[in-house]
Amino acid sequence: MTVQLDRLSLLPLTAEVNERGHLIIGGCDTVELAAEFGTPLYLFDEFSIRSKCAEFKTEFGQRYADTTVIYACKAFINKALLLLLKEEGLGLDVVSGGELGITQSVGFPLGQVYFHGNNKSAGEISLALEWGIGRIVIDNFQELKIINRLAKEKGKKASILLRLTPGVDPHTHQYITTGTIDSKFGFPQAHSEEAVITAMSKSNLNLVGLHCHIGSLIFETEPYQQAIDFMLNFAAEMKRKHGFELKELSVGGGFAAQYTLDAPSPPTSAYAEVITSSIISRCHQLKVPLPRLIIEPGRSIVARAGVALYEIGTIKEIPGIRCYVCVDGGMGDNIRPALYGSKLEAVVANKMSDKETGKFTIAGKFCESGDILIRDIGLPQPVPGDILVVAACGAYSIPQASNYNAFFLPAIVLVKEGKARLIRRRETLEDLTQCDLV
Ligand code: LLP
Repeated sequence: MTVQLDRLSLLPLTAEVNERGHLIIGGCDTVELAAEFGTPLYLFDEFSIRSKCAEFKTEFGQRYADTTVIYACKAFINKALLLLLKEEGLGLDVVSGGELGITQSVGFPLGQVYFHGNNKSAGEISLALEWGIGRIVIDNFQELKIINRLAKEKGKKASILLRLTPGVDPHTHQYITTGTIDSKFGFPQAHSEEAVITAMSKSNLNLVGLHCHIGSLIFETEPYQQAIDFMLNFAAEMKRKHGFELKELSVGGGFAAQYTLDAPSPPTSAYAEVITSSIISRCHQLKVPLPRLIIEPGRSIVARAGVALYEIGTIKEIPGIRCYVCVDGGMGDNIRPALYGSKLEAVVANKMSDKETGKFTIAGKFCESGDILIRDIGLPQPVPGDILVVAACGAYSIPQASNYNAFFLPAIVLVKEGKARLIRRRETLEDLTQCDLV
């Protein structure tokens, strides 16, 4: 078996190789898709997304019936995706008026939407209240005041959760660690009690629960247990002292995805087992009722379902040093390697059955030396015109994309059973200049 074939396990669930040695995803030949839609092209496999949604609902639901799965749409937001998630019965986590607006525009049931953010504007909050958003997750004291005031003005009662900082280190990249004591997110421990008292005293707020999110790309399950212990102990203390009833506990997202062959991620069942058993045993110990459990997976729903297709252009061999293989995208559509040092793997889609001939460094076409997607990866000999498919690009690539160097954002297709549907067209020069005023 060649390493290219090993890498099928990083690609969408429907990935296979046809008799021509081409990579097939969702029944579509990726080499043909690159020719039809152009490159760079992002491709999402509908079956992989739906399978993950079902997996989260089943793995958590069978252990803890009162679980609500909400998708953190910062990982990837697109109208077609939201309609698909609606069909799968997931709720949503949004963090801006923009995400909220897209959600509303497709008729997503807004009662199933949770609104997050550490600095929500009055405009965003007003919109959320007017549209009847399900929950607002309050991050700080200013928000407690503003949301209560705006709700009063509109004659509404806002259902809220308080975001706390549990002081847990999930051992992930510093930029995606959120639940430690020194974090811009959530009420610090020293202020959590005051936050509960204040929230309970506000006439137009209905405090339904507590939230924490300790970080992203978390490969360990133990930090979740630590965070849950902190949250439930705190809730029980607040019940004793102030009569607070914890109806909902959100433990956030953060479940890892597999990007490279040497870094497998725990199965969904492992997270489900630790999270649900920690809640059940701690509530039992504390003699408090079980709250509704909210989980907010983002990356784990879409990461593996999405791949990036690039055409190989310039190939530059520096004798004795390195061979650069340049593709027609890069940091503009995927900033993760440059920003977090993330590791990725790729295959040459038109040479799936060929053996690797050496190590190559995949560079983008942006004017930055840091625009390297993958360092020293073994591949079959690439030549200009080959199609490179980078695995596990479904989460946090397109949403963090930019128009740096005035490149156009890629087109996106959704594939299913041999059919490819364009769910976002490629940008044009007109798109790039339409906001400029002369
Ligand atoms: N809930 C809250 C409150 C969050 O802040 C996040 C992610 C999630 C849920 C979803 O986390 P996930 O399941 O996707 O790990 N751009 C970074 C990741 C940033 C995560 C931000 N918050 C990256 O590319 O790795």
